[in-house]
Amino acid sequence: MDSMIIGSKIILRDKRLADAQDDYTWQTDPELAQLDAMPPLATTFSQYLSDYVSELRYSPQTRRRFAIETLDGKHIGNCTYYSISEAKGEAELGIMIGNRNCWDKGYGADAVATLLSYIFRRTDLKRIYLKTIDSNPRAQKCFQKCGFTPYGHLVRDGFSFVLMEIHRKQWERWQWKRNDTNSIKED
Ligand SMILES: CC(C)(COP(=O)(O)OP(=O)(O)OC[C@H]1O[C@@H](n2cnc3c(N)ncnc32)[C@H](O)[C@@H]1OP(=O)(O)O)[C@@H](O)C(=O)NCCC(=O)NCCS
Repeated sequence: MDSMIIGSKIILRDKRLADAQDDYTWQTDPELAQLDAMPPLATTFSQYLSDYVSELRYSPQTRRRFAIETLDGKHIGNCTYYSISEAKGEAELGIMIGNRNCWDKGYGADAVATLLSYIFRRTDLKRIYLKTIDSNPRAQKCFQKCGFTPYGHLVRDGFSFVLMEIHRKQWERWQWKRNDTNSIKED
């Protein structure tokens, strides 16, 4: 099933093999890796590509990945919801805008808002949570703009994280104020 979710500034679409080069560039970038509290990827592109093909074929029930494109079709990043637990009614959200020229232009907030809209309209999940490193005020501001609120701190692997969450009820109030008009196409 190919999905396309249209926001105000971005489109979320299913991942494709053609995304592999951008994704490899971003995942091997030390600054992006640090912001994601991960070591930079240290594999060759050919190995990466072979794993990428397998990942595209495999779609677990516990994860949904999307590419983020500008409205004119430029691939600028990715966002995902994962660790989906139907029993708990929750999932974790992750995002990365890899193209630095696209930071601070509202693409991240629109991608998160568009994904939240998709999740809360199309699934029964009731809570979305995330973590971001303390020293990333851009990310925290982006998530606050989308209605997330801090609920704790975590120190893991030498990184200190802010934990943030949004519940369906909070999202309903938030998107009513925002006058949400995203559209979803699936075929
Ligand atoms: C974090 C990220 C998703 C945010 O997306 P984005 O498109 O850059 O964010 P937005 O433009 O929607 O919002 C960023 C906000 O932070 C503000 N901001 C930027 N730097 C800031 C700083 N040092 N202190 C405070 N606010 C800051 C911007 O002004 C903007 O707020 P505004 O709209 O009120 O002006 C994106 O920048 C990104 O992926 N960065 C690289 C990887 C990364 O940080 N990964 C961790 C994600 S958890």
